[in-house]
Amino acid sequence: MSGQTRLTVIVTEVVAVNSLIKRFRFVREDGGLMPGFSGGAHTVVEMDDNGTRRLNAYSLMSDPADTSGYEISVRRDDTGRGGSLFMHNGVKPGMKMVISQPVNLFGLDLRAKKHLMIAGGIGITPFIAQMAQLDSLGHRFELHYAMRDRELGAYMKELSARHGERVHAYYDLEKQAIDLANLLKIQPLGTHLYVCGPKGMINWVLSTAKAMGWPKGALHSEEFLAPPVGEAFKVELSRSKITVEVGPTQSMLEALEAAGVDAPYLCRGGACGQCECRVTASDGEILHYDHWLSDEQKAAKTHIMPCVSRFKGERLVIEL
Ligand code: FES
Repeated sequence: MSGQTRLTVIVTEVVAVNSLIKRFRFVREDGGLMPGFSGGAHTVVEMDDNGTRRLNAYSLMSDPADTSGYEISVRRDDTGRGGSLFMHNGVKPGMKMVISQPVNLFGLDLRAKKHLMIAGGIGITPFIAQMAQLDSLGHRFELHYAMRDRELGAYMKELSARHGERVHAYYDLEKQAIDLANLLKIQPLGTHLYVCGPKGMINWVLSTAKAMGWPKGALHSEEFLAPPVGEAFKVELSRSKITVEVGPTQSMLEALEAAGVDAPYLCRGGACGQCECRVTASDGEILHYDHWLSDEQKAAKTHIMPCVSRFKGERLVIEL
């Protein structure tokens, strides 16, 4: 549900990792230790973007063994709604911010004999924490990290220094690509596969693994979608009996929250299913952007995920 435990933190470091990515470090305002977390967890960062309240989820990338602070990385999206731009331009060391207690929707299965990790771009961040955790536990793992070029290959140097030959880099602009079929073929029985990155990469990795007979329980993926921008629309809430206007750069979930509605959420990125709402009437097109609802559910227009999905039409009524 919403109302997760919130922590007031101070930004102690803002580091430009490359031309697109900045790293942020948060410590507790009261000087205490942060709550513990496991590799793959994310936190939701609250922002006041010129009067618009934005809540964006970011994977924790710091070592789970170190609870003196949390670190996240944010990739700037110049065409997005403004959350990443706010983080890049508006957040400075010394600032007070509010973040949620970590939630893990992409946890390691520690029963695995080996952990095979595939990252694309900024999808590297949860793996940085996971590898630190696996390293201290003495578990077997291997990372295959695809990125556009050396300049944008964030953290590659640090990862190679810490994990040596367990880390493999692939640069798109140098025409390097993961030989996925072969990689999946040579893994020992009991290996679990984890993938985080762009949607196309996740689909490719999961569908290849499934076609090769990998058991469903050994496949793990995470993709946080940034809520897309779009045309403004209205949504009627059948229980609260109010109509909420959703602006072009606002998600439906943000608009509900701004109207004082206590709507449930966890990931705010179309992945966890927590915000699912029943649609009781609709005369237009539901623009489904999540990867939670099945294709059948999407086609049936009976449910919507307000954290990322939008509507085009005159009337949308949801049960909330
Ligand atoms: S909050 Fe996770 S799917 Fe919407």
